[in-house]
Amino acid sequence: MNELMRHALNLPPQASSFARHIDYLHYVVIGSAFVICGLTFLAILYMLIHFREGKACKKHGRIPRWLEISAASFTLTVFIVWWVIGFPQFREMRTPPANALRVYVVAKQWMWEYVYPNGITAEDELHVPVGQPVELLMTSRDVIHSFYVAAFRNKQDVVPGRITNVWFTATKPGRYPILCAEYCGAGHSRMRGVVVAMEPSAYADWAAGHHSKDLVQAGEKLAADYGCLRCHTVDGTPHLGPSWKGLYGSTIPLAGGGTVVDDDAYLTESMMDPPAKLHAGYPPLMPTFLGRLSGPEAAAIVEYIRSLRSEPNE
Ligand code: CUA
Repeated sequence: MNELMRHALNLPPQASSFARHIDYLHYVVIGSAFVICGLTFLAILYMLIHFREGKACKKHGRIPRWLEISAASFTLTVFIVWWVIGFPQFREMRTPPANALRVYVVAKQWMWEYVYPNGITAEDELHVPVGQPVELLMTSRDVIHSFYVAAFRNKQDVVPGRITNVWFTATKPGRYPILCAEYCGAGHSRMRGVVVAMEPSAYADWAAGHHSKDLVQAGEKLAADYGCLRCHTVDGTPHLGPSWKGLYGSTIPLAGGGTVVDDDAYLTESMMDPPAKLHAGYPPLMPTFLGRLSGPEAAAIVEYIRSLRSEPNE
């Protein structure tokens, strides 16, 4: 049934753990749209004949109340069924598991760059192990792009100055095209990459073949080089800025009222646009690093701050 519908709708292969569920929702939506479309045409046909001009002409009466109510509740029920199927899927897709392999993605006109936790960097080809959840933390160097892997049924905008995330578990080894799904300039149609899903042993071989430095260590060095550590301590003592120790994952009171949970997105925003959400109790002294820190550098510093969190539970 699944394969029949997939071919009828000309959908790409189902290569992630979500793909089947998303397609199932798709079949239900398309199926109910067909049924409702058919009922509407039948009603039109009935009215054309029943109320036609001529000797069989009937007086237009009031629509019976029961018919009105049942038509409205039927349509409402269909929408609720879509929601009941779709909302748990949406929640699942928005909640990366804690054991996910985290890969930083930087999009720019017109290519994709990847930074792995062990410091491996790659362009366009994203290597991932099959059966392991992978979380992508994505940002853009220039304009808005969108990361789209049809075979995974995953799509997420990639926005400059912000981190957006997406996750998936590849289920079948293979090469799956990554497309940019947001018009981003003259080279948009050529902004392609590939997800290379590999058996875990093949992935381990691939990763071992790339000698590189640890991302946390790189972040620590960058934080010193860029002068971050002149205002931020790493031992918990507040200085001109909040200490980085225990910062990641904590709830931060904001100068303008309200709070925010310190995560990758907040840290990145604070580097690129410090006054946007100012930590209460600290002066607005921090300069912006937009255009000074590259995507991989910002990722390394975030990873370093993450390593200083109070309860390393991942
Ligand atoms: Cu990048 Cu379109």
